[in-house]
Amino acid sequence: MSRWCVAAVSGATCSGKTTIARRLHASLAGSRLISQDDYFLPESDPRHRLVPGLDHFNWDTLSALDMDRLLADVTALTATSPPGILILEGFLVLNDGRVRQRCDARVFVTLDRATCWQRRQRRVYEPPDVPGYFDACVWPMYEQHEAALRREAEAEVTFLDGRRPIDELCRLVEAEVDKARVSCGLEKAAPPGGGGD
Ligand SMILES: Nc1ncnc2c1ncn2[C@@H]1O[C@H](COP(=O)(O)OP(=O)(O)OP(=O)(O)O)[C@@H](O)[C@H]1O
Ligand SMILES: [Mg+2]
Repeated sequence: MSRWCVAAVSGATCSGKTTIARRLHASLAGSRLISQDDYFLPESDPRHRLVPGLDHFNWDTLSALDMDRLLADVTALTATSPPGILILEGFLVLNDGRVRQRCDARVFVTLDRATCWQRRQRRVYEPPDVPGYFDACVWPMYEQHEAALRREAEAEVTFLDGRRPIDELCRLVEAEVDKARVSCGLEKAAPPGGGGD
C-alpha cells in the first residue's frame, strides 16, 4: 500500500532551498511543489509585528505566515489519489511541529553568516530589506530557528552545509527523497530515457 511522500527542504535564507526544490521537482515526473513563501500573511494583517527599533515587519518568524493554510493544503493534497511526491520548501517548514510530523524526508540546509549576508545582498525581496534588517532580524531569527529545530528534532533531520556546490546538495537531497519514497511504498522513478524493461 503506497502513500504520499512529503519531502521538506528547509534551511537558512539564501541557502539554496528554492533552487534545490525546483530542480528536484523538475527531475521527479508528477511531483508537486509547495513553497512556504506563498503563505506569508498580507502586509495589512494585524498579526504582523515590527522589529524593535526598525520600521519594518518581522517577516522571519512563523507568525508572519499562514501555517494553518499551508497545513490544510498539504493535508488536502496528500489525500488525493494516486499518491506521489510532494516537495515542501521554505525557511520554516520544519519549525512547525504539525508540518514536520507530516514529512517523510527532512532536510535543513545551514549557512554561515558571511556567506548568507553575501548572497542576501544580491537579492531584492518584496518588501525590500531595510538597512539593519539582516543584523537585527534575519540572522538572529535564523540562529533561533536552527537551534530550536536541533533541540526538538535533530535526529529526524538531515543537516547539510549550504556552502557545498549546489549540484552536490541536489544529489544529497535526491538521495534522501529516494530513501523516503521507498518507505512510502512508491516506485523509484525510471532513469531518464527509459532504462527499465
Ligand atoms: N550551494 C550554492 N552555492 C553557490 N550559490 C548558491 C548555492 N545555493 C544557492 N546559491 C545562490 O544563492 C541565491 C539564493 O538561492 P535560493 O533562492 O535557491 O535560496 P533560498 O534558500 O530559496 O533563499 P530565500 O531565502 O530567498 O528563500 C541564488 O543566487 C543562488 O544562485
Ligand atoms: Mg527561496
